[in-house]
Formats: sequence, structure tokens, C-alpha cells
Amino acid sequence: MRRKVSVIGAGNVGASVAQYLAQKNLCDIVIVDIPEKEDMPKGKALDLMEAGPVDFYDITITGTFDFADIKDSEVVVVTSGLARKPGMSREDLLQANAAIIKSVSENIKKYAPNSYVIMVANPLDLMTFHAWKVTGFPTNRVFGQAGILDSIRFRTFVAMELGVSRNDVQAMVLGGHGDTMVPLPAYTTVAGIPITELIPEDRIKAISDRTRMGGGEIVKLLKTGSAYYAPARATVDMVEAVLLDRKRVLPCSSHLTGEYGLSDVYIGVPCVIGAGGVEKVFELKLSDSDLALLQKSGNTYKEHLKELGY
Ligand code: 2OP
Repeated sequence: MRRKVSVIGAGNVGASVAQYLAQKNLCDIVIVDIPEKEDMPKGKALDLMEAGPVDFYDITITGTFDFADIKDSEVVVVTSGLARKPGMSREDLLQANAAIIKSVSENIKKYAPNSYVIMVANPLDLMTFHAWKVTGFPTNRVFGQAGILDSIRFRTFVAMELGVSRNDVQAMVLGGHGDTMVPLPAYTTVAGIPITELIPEDRIKAISDRTRMGGGEIVKLLKTGSAYYAPARATVDMVEAVLLDRKRVLPCSSHLTGEYGLSDVYIGVPCVIGAGGVEKVFELKLSDSDLALLQKSGNTYKEHLKELGY
């Protein structure tokens, strides 16, 4: 029997997750959306199935609005919810998406009680906490995608600045997936060379600022929604890390219990992702100013959690 991953939400992010995941030929995929979308998830699933013969995958992709179909999923990726429009912050989506994520999480708890939940909906760190609470799953099984996206944006901008391959840039962006995120130039290298030796300070600051606003830059360009290719591809790295027990070291939104001086909050930190979900959180030695920024980011989200009654 093939392994199974479900993707909740058949919009741009969900469909792109299904597409990138299909290309890995690792697992059957179920795409779920609400009944109001009628046959749309079925259409996307069939369209993706039909790409299989030329894209060399033969897994099965199914579209449905029946949550019972997620039964036996090893991983459930949650992309449902509203995307922001130009001028909105991710936190502006809080109440609307909290209601959607509550219902989705209840269904995951009911139909896929042993699954690993990867949250993609915004405001990311808050929705991940919310899903953890509603499912009641252990914290290693509920985590959020954001840090990989923020880090690959940072990598892209560094590579563009230097005119080098994006593949040779490694970067780490921590903190909440919002304006308080913390790019870490000290942990950003080009083929092992610290970027602080290659790029002047003012340009590093400009690149860090662009990274922080990276999601908003795409929203402004698209006008009708937010980014989906990079968020989806980043998510698939996390799914693959779980399915193949890859022990990838990835910045993910994870529950903290005192690391970095923060507790009872989800925030982006470097995690080891494998068959046990979040198997470990690395606590980096941050400069005093970076640690202060990370703590500020975490405390901002703790305040927002109160708006959800936590
Ligand atoms: C982004 O940063 C959608 O939050 C996502 O593009």
C-alpha cells in the first residue's frame, strides 16, 4: 500500500503543494476543499493525474470535500484560509482564518488522529498554535512552514546581490512569519563564506528588510492574493523530511518550552525534521540584539494568542 498525504485547501498553495509533491512520486495525495467549491478539487486532482505520464509519477491524486477521505494520512498539510490582499498584514486574517482552522483541525483529529500536521495558513505561527490546541496532538506532530520560505527568499536576494548561484547560498531566518521575523546574516554563507565578508553592512540590511517584506512584495505584485510557488515548494521539503526520515535541519514554526527564553508559543526556530516530526530544536548562540529581536517576535505572537482566547 502506498503512503498517503492529504492537502487541505485546493487553492493556489494547496494545488501547488500537490503538484510539487506528486513530482516526488512518494505518496498518494488527497486534496480536500469545502463542498461550496463543488467539483473543483476533483478537477485539480484529475488535471495533476493527467500530467503524470510526462512528469514520471504514478501515484494517485484524489480530490474530495469529504474529510473521511484523509483517513490513514501520515501527513496533513493545511493550506485553507483566506490569503491577504494588498495593504493587509497576515495578522489581519486572524479571526477569519481561526474559525476555518478550528473546523479543519477538528476534522484532522477525527479522521487522521495519528498524522503529522504541517500548517501553512496565515497568520502562520498563530494558526499552528491553534491547530495544536484544537487537535490536542503532541507538539512534535504539529508544526508550521514559514522559516524555509523566509530563508529561501533571503537566499535568493543574497544570490541576486552577488550574482552567484542561489544553490550556493545558505541562510537562516528565525522568528514569526511576519514583520518581526529575524534574518540572521551571521548564519548566512555563500559556499561557506560568511556574507558579512562579501556584502557591505548597508546592503545586508536592505536585503534583510526586503526579506521581511518578501510576502508583501508578492501580494503587491499579484494584487489578488499571496505567493504560492515558493511557499508550496518549501512545504514539500518538510513533507519529504517526515516521509523519508531525512533529519533535515530546517527553520520551522515549532512549540517552544524555554528555548531562546520563550515558552508556550509557536515561532520559527531551527528544527530537525524527520519521521518523528520536530525531533529537536537547535538553540543557536545569538547575539544579544538578535536574541532580543527573536524574543520580541515571540512575545508579539503571545499577545496575539490572547485574541484567540489562549
Ligand atoms: C508569504 O509570505 C503567503 O505568507 C506567505 O508569501
